[in-house]
Amino acid sequence: MLEKAQQLKLQFEEKVNTAKNPADLEQLRIEFLGKKGSVASLMSELRNVPNDQKKEAGQIINEVKQFIENAIKEKNVELQKLEEERLINAAEDYDVTFPITEEKGSYHPITLVQRELEDIFAAMGFSIEDYDEIVDDYHCFEALNIPKHHPARDMQDTYYLSTNQLLKTHTSAAQNAILKKYTSELEADRPIRVIFPGRCFRNEKIDACHENTFFQMEGVMVDKDISISNLIYFMKTMLSEVFQQDITVRLRPGFFPFVEPGFELDIQCTICGGKGCPSCKDSGWLELCPCGMIHPNVLTAGGLDPEKYTGFAFGLGLTRLAMMRYGIKDIRVFNSCNLKSLSQFENATFTQPEKEVK
Ligand code: DAH
Repeated sequence: MLEKAQQLKLQFEEKVNTAKNPADLEQLRIEFLGKKGSVASLMSELRNVPNDQKKEAGQIINEVKQFIENAIKEKNVELQKLEEERLINAAEDYDVTFPITEEKGSYHPITLVQRELEDIFAAMGFSIEDYDEIVDDYHCFEALNIPKHHPARDMQDTYYLSTNQLLKTHTSAAQNAILKKYTSELEADRPIRVIFPGRCFRNEKIDACHENTFFQMEGVMVDKDISISNLIYFMKTMLSEVFQQDITVRLRPGFFPFVEPGFELDIQCTICGGKGCPSCKDSGWLELCPCGMIHPNVLTAGGLDPEKYTGFAFGLGLTRLAMMRYGIKDIRVFNSCNLKSLSQFENATFTQPEKEVK
């Protein structure tokens, strides 16, 4: 047994010197110390050793085992050091002056337009609110004076969820919660002024002008004695800021159950100045923003007394504004995930469209 153990030790010593890396060493460990390794098979031979010599033989094998275990540990430290040195030498071959070609990320054009609008509104004292994308029927419709079975629901083909909720079809869905949240402003003799941008969903057939996912920015202002002239003045001032030029607006009647009266607000075409061009389909006007005086029922649902307070609301189409701003002809660009198209926009100053994006 002593002879066999010594032979095993010699064998191991020869092999361990040839190990060049941690993987070689692991192989060796399995070969000698593994369950079916050489040490284990020597142990199993113990049963053939006469009883009076068993103890001594067992000790001899254990010593060899200890020796192998220690040698593997030491060799491992040595190999780790060699590996580190190799990596350091390899790093010296690395050229830190080599130009980095990685592309930078960029903001989505709708994010750019949204941020610019938020800055403009914030400067006019508006708070900015975020609102859920999943809402209930009450907030999306009933609180907005659109009862069940009202034909106005047909204008917004809605995605209903199995949880009795739905994907909000317009940012107006936040109006009720916003009015309630900001009641304290009126109590403190300040107007409610809030914008709430958000993503909306409708079951639209997708083409160059329609998407089932799009962005709006809704705004409300409520106080004592707010009238249509406030609405017109305010929208004109705000849009002149947005487009960085003096803007002429006009109101056409429009029907939305949550405003009375309701309007479609047009701006005089910023490209031809009202003379007529392909962008405004020769009409001289661009349809921009539905708006109106908040319906008394909506104020009541929001906990406000319509005898005491009045207000206006508007729903800017952010996606539409981004298309106008950048001359994007096809709405599908926004959700295309095509980085080549989406990464070319940098700032969102609303002058004339500079380039066409296909
Ligand atoms: N929520 C309407 C829609 O998406 C747009 C709208 C119309 C919003 C009139 C308003 C408004 O705030 O006053 O079709």
